[in-house]
Amino acid sequence: MTNILITGGSRGIGYELVKQFAADANNYVVVLSRNIEKLEQLKLECAQHYQSTIQLYQVDFNSPSLNQELQNILEKENKHFHTVINNAGVLINKPFTETTTADWQTVFTTNVFAPATLIKEVISCNNTNEQTHIVNISSMGGFQGSVKFTGLSAYSASKAALANLTEVLAEEYKNTNIKINCLALGSVQTEMLQEAFPDFQAKVSAKQMAKYIYQFAITGATLFNGKIIPVSVTTP
Ligand SMILES: NC(=O)c1ccc[n+]([C@@H]2O[C@H](COP(=O)([O-])OP(=O)(O)OC[C@H]3O[C@@H](n4cnc5c(N)ncnc54)[C@H](OP(=O)(O)O)[C@@H]3O)[C@@H](O)[C@H]2O)c1
Repeated sequence: MTNILITGGSRGIGYELVKQFAADANNYVVVLSRNIEKLEQLKLECAQHYQSTIQLYQVDFNSPSLNQELQNILEKENKHFHTVINNAGVLINKPFTETTTADWQTVFTTNVFAPATLIKEVISCNNTNEQTHIVNISSMGGFQGSVKFTGLSAYSASKAALANLTEVLAEEYKNTNIKINCLALGSVQTEMLQEAFPDFQAKVSAKQMAKYIYQFAITGATLFNGKIIPVSVTTP
């Protein structure tokens, strides 16, 4: 049995990603996000087509008790996670001077502090003799030297922080069975993109991107560690 943990499975790329993993009956997939109704719908959809086991947890990454909630989940699961995908994210599109401290807190808590907490808890619970591949989902907006977009100060800065965290953790755990990489995605047609940029149409669908992330997650750890990989045909 291969154990997978995916955050942000209730919609967009995460929803499609869970379906990719669910197609392999050997996979046990744990999915976290706030919207439990959407997660139940996803589980039902997977059960109609696939044999794999999906376990759902309603978690808000902005909860003050997040650390304890994640510990409880991992204690209950009592498993080694072979693949962890930090996919959940939030985007606020606002001129910089209009961004509030609360905006910055929400964005950094969801996009940086929560993945850091999850990684910490997974590492503490995992079996050191088995392999783990942690994949952090960042954005081209947080990729050094890429074209930047106005209104995305908090979002892009948070994604750059997540990318940097990837490099630092890869160094810290280089002599262990943990491999950690970061995918900096270009635009993907999801609810997040639609809400932030209603007039923009991305060339890549959530399903297409999920297929790529799935392949990278299951194969990438043999060739990459501590890498921030741009996944975009449009953004230089
Ligand atoms: N779409 C793009 O163009 C694009 C480009 C570059 C990078 N990305 C990144 O790719 C990832 C997926 O994006 P997407 O476009 O699929 O976004 P999406 O459709 O908005 O989905 C985001 C997911 O994150 C979860 N989430 C958000 N806030 C959360 C919170 N406080 N606690 C727990 N879960 C939370 C949401 O679940 P709930 O609402 O149920 O909690 C949802 O499942 C994100 O990290 C995003 O930054 C996307």
